[in-house]
Amino acid sequence: MMKNKTFFIKSYGCQMNEYDSNKINSLLLNDGYFNSSDIQNADLIVFNTCNIREKAAQKVYSDIGRVTKEDKSKTIALVGCVAQAENDEIFKKNKDVDIVLGPQSYHLLPKMLKAHKYYQEKQINTEFIINEKFDLIREEKSPKGVSSYITIQEGCDKFCAFCVVPFTRGPEYSRSIESIVKEAEALTESGTREIILLGQNVNAYQYIDNKEISYSISKLIDEVSKIEKVKRIRYTTSHPNNMDNELIQLHGSNEKLMPFLHLPVQSGSDEILNKMNRKYNISEYKHIIDNLKTVRPNMEISSDFIIGFPGETEKDFQATLDLVDYVGFKQSYSFIYSERPGTKAATIEDITPLVEKKLRLSILQKKLEELQLEFNKTFCNKNVDNVLIENQSQSNPEYYFGRTPFLQPVYVKSKNLTVGEEASVAIETCNHKSLYGMLSN
Ligand code: SAH
Ligand code: SF4
Ligand code: F3S
Repeated sequence: MMKNKTFFIKSYGCQMNEYDSNKINSLLLNDGYFNSSDIQNADLIVFNTCNIREKAAQKVYSDIGRVTKEDKSKTIALVGCVAQAENDEIFKKNKDVDIVLGPQSYHLLPKMLKAHKYYQEKQINTEFIINEKFDLIREEKSPKGVSSYITIQEGCDKFCAFCVVPFTRGPEYSRSIESIVKEAEALTESGTREIILLGQNVNAYQYIDNKEISYSISKLIDEVSKIEKVKRIRYTTSHPNNMDNELIQLHGSNEKLMPFLHLPVQSGSDEILNKMNRKYNISEYKHIIDNLKTVRPNMEISSDFIIGFPGETEKDFQATLDLVDYVGFKQSYSFIYSERPGTKAATIEDITPLVEKKLRLSILQKKLEELQLEFNKTFCNKNVDNVLIENQSQSNPEYYFGRTPFLQPVYVKSKNLTVGEEASVAIETCNHKSLYGMLSN
C-alpha cells in the first residue's frame, strides 16, 4: 500500500540550490517520505534546476528522460530556477513532469504532491511569495556538516545584461537577523564550526528589526561571530558595488572572517563591464582589492569570468588577462557567455565565432590554473596550522579531509583526528586543486 514514498533530489547550479535541496529533503522527511540513495528506485524525483546557462537548463530534460524511459509511474517534480523561468512551457516540453514549482514556494511541495495524487492533475506554482518558505520549512534533526550554508539574502535587483537570476529568484530580500542567528546556533549544536552566509548578492543584505535598528552584512557577521562554537565565517556571492568600507574594514578586525573572498568581476574591460551593466569599472574593482589587502595582508581573492560577451574584442580579452595578473586570483570560475532568453544581452549582436571564444577561455583557464598551482606550492613543505577537518574517509579511516582558510582542500593522513577540529598539517605535496600532508606534531 505504501506508494510514492521514497524520494531522490537531484540538485544543479549554485550553493543556494544545494541549501534549498537540503531544506526540501527535511520537508519531505517530515512529511513521511523516505530517502532513496538510488534515483532509479525512487518513487518521487525532485529536480532542483539551474537556468544560468543554456547547457545547465537543457540538461535536466535529458536527465528526466533517462529516469522515466522505462518507468512511467514515477512522480517528477521540476523545481528551482528553470521552473521559474519556463513555467507551464515545461509541461509541453516534457509530458512526464507532474509538478512545477518556483524557488520561493518549496514549502508548498507536500501539499502539491497530495493534490497531484488525489486529482491526478499536474500542479504548478511559480509565484514570488517572499520569505514564507523560510518561516515554514522546519529543519529535520539530522547531523549537520562541519561547514554549513545559511541563506541570508535572496534575489537580485541588479539586472546585469547577461543574467537570468533577477527573473528566476525575484527581487532582493533579506531574512531577519534573529532567524539567521537562531539557525547558526542550531547548526553549531549539531557540529557546525564554519558558517557560509549565502545570497545572490549576499553583501546587499539589509534588515531593519522591530526597534528600527538596521543591520548590514557587517553587523550580521559580528552577531554570528559572537556564537562561541562558530570558528569561521565566509559569505558568498558578493557584488563589488556592495563592498562598502564597513565590510572591508571588518576583514581587518573580525578574526573569524576568513581571509578569502569570492568577488566576481566578470571582465577586465571597462567597455564590456559597461555593456554588461555591472556599474563599476576596473579601477574601482582594483581599489576594493587593494583596500582589502591593506586591512588584511594575507587576503586572497577568487572570481567569476564570462568570456565572449557580445562585442568582446581581443583587446577587451587582453584587459581581462591583465587584471588576472594584477589581482592574482586563486580558484576562479570561467565560462563562455551563454545567451539567455529575456535578458538584455540577448538583443545584442554577437559576431565573435565560438572557436575564438573557446580559445580565449582556454588561455584564461590555463593562466588561472597556473596561479592556483603557484599558490598551492607556497604551502608545500610547510606546516599549515589551521586546517578545519570536515570529515574522515569512509574507505580508508586513516585519511581525513579538511580545508585551509583559503578553501584549499587538504587530504591529511592521521590516526587521531577529530572531525570539527582545526589541525596543524605538514603539507608534503600538492597539485593545482589540493594539498596533501600528515598531521604535524
Ligand atoms: N551575483 C553574482 C553571480 C551570480 S551568477 C555576481 O553578481 O557576481 C554566477 C555566475 O554565473 C556569474 O558570476 C557569471 O560569471 C555566470 N553567469 C551568469 N550568467 C551567465 C551567462 N548568461 N553566461 C555565462 N555565464 C553566466
Ligand atoms: Fe546576476 Fe548580476 Fe544579479 Fe549577479 S548581480 S545575480 S550576475 S544580475
Ligand atoms: Fe542557477 Fe538559479 Fe543558482 S539560475 S546559479 S540555481 S540562482
